Amino acid sequence: MKDEILQMLKSRKDFISGQELCEHFQVSRTAVWKVMKQLQNDGYEIEAINRKGYRLIASPDVLTVPEILSVMTTEVMGRKIYYYDCLGSTNDQARMLAEQGAEEGSLIIAETQNTGKGRMGRAFFSPEGCGIWMSLILKPEIPPMDASMVTLVGAMAVQEMMQDYGITSGIKWPNDIVIDGRKVTGILTEMSAGPDRINSIVIGIGINANMKFFPEELEKTAISMSMVTGKNYHRAEIIACVMDHFEKNYREFLKTGDLRFLKERYNASLIHKDKEIDVHEIRRVWRGISRGINDIGELIVSSDEGDVIVRSGEVSIRGVYGYMK
Ligand code: BTN
Repeated sequence: MKDEILQMLKSRKDFISGQELCEHFQVSRTAVWKVMKQLQNDGYEIEAINRKGYRLIASPDVLTVPEILSVMTTEVMGRKIYYYDCLGSTNDQARMLAEQGAEEGSLIIAETQNTGKGRMGRAFFSPEGCGIWMSLILKPEIPPMDASMVTLVGAMAVQEMMQDYGITSGIKWPNDIVIDGRKVTGILTEMSAGPDRINSIVIGIGINANMKFFPEELEKTAISMSMVTGKNYHRAEIIACVMDHFEKNYREFLKTGDLRFLKERYNASLIHKDKEIDVHEIRRVWRGISRGINDIGELIVSSDEGDVIVRSGEVSIRGVYGYMK
């Protein structure tokens, strides 16, 4: 009943009378009052006025399942949530749950990660109470070689969320979201597949939402939404917003099989479009001008030898001048 009352309070801007709640749930006024007290204890600010009823004034920044579901607008993505106070890595947990049969769209969220994983075997800083550490399980029926495109769909969803929040960010190919040359979101996609069939894809997204500062070693390379705007963000709403954009773009991707539908938007957000970059391969580093992605999400880089196609997973890129740190 508590979750349903919360949903009702959220769906109304105005007061809901105690009488209406009693009739709806077939319970006494005292029972309704007790639930309101529980919600207030959970951090919800609820106004209670005689003869008018109850009105929700503010929600706490908590990542509880009812709070997240109360703002979720999707049909599939993030509709099934597995929440944990602490995990090693949400990606590892997602992989395990996917193997055990968790369905497409399941979202694994942790308040903190002990061993958050970044790309290229790096650690990912995932402290408690201020960030969003989540992994989305997908089970698309596409060839394994097409899976890397899903990563760009994820990056676009986060970039669009930033735009909805009025924050000017950009994408560093393939999937870092950056502000002022510093990373505000990292994405790590991992796949389990056979030779011609995907078992599952896990898209791990780490969003620096409300941090006020970073440890010294990250100060120059990391930033949070809060550090840019001075605001504190309601993380459940950010999650819902990312899921909403992801669902729309992912549907389109499954329909068309490539990224033509978002290429223009993606390239418009690319921070190194038509700029000089260094491409770091395992054995060599070379310089070129990044031209943007093609229909399947590969980066086109103009070099002395002509246009070269760069595939994600094989390389990392760095900005030559100060626009990427
Ligand atoms: C990177 O920028 O190198 C990628 C970082 C990805 C971090 C996220 S946080 C949620 C998920 N769980 C992990 O262990 N990693 C990803």
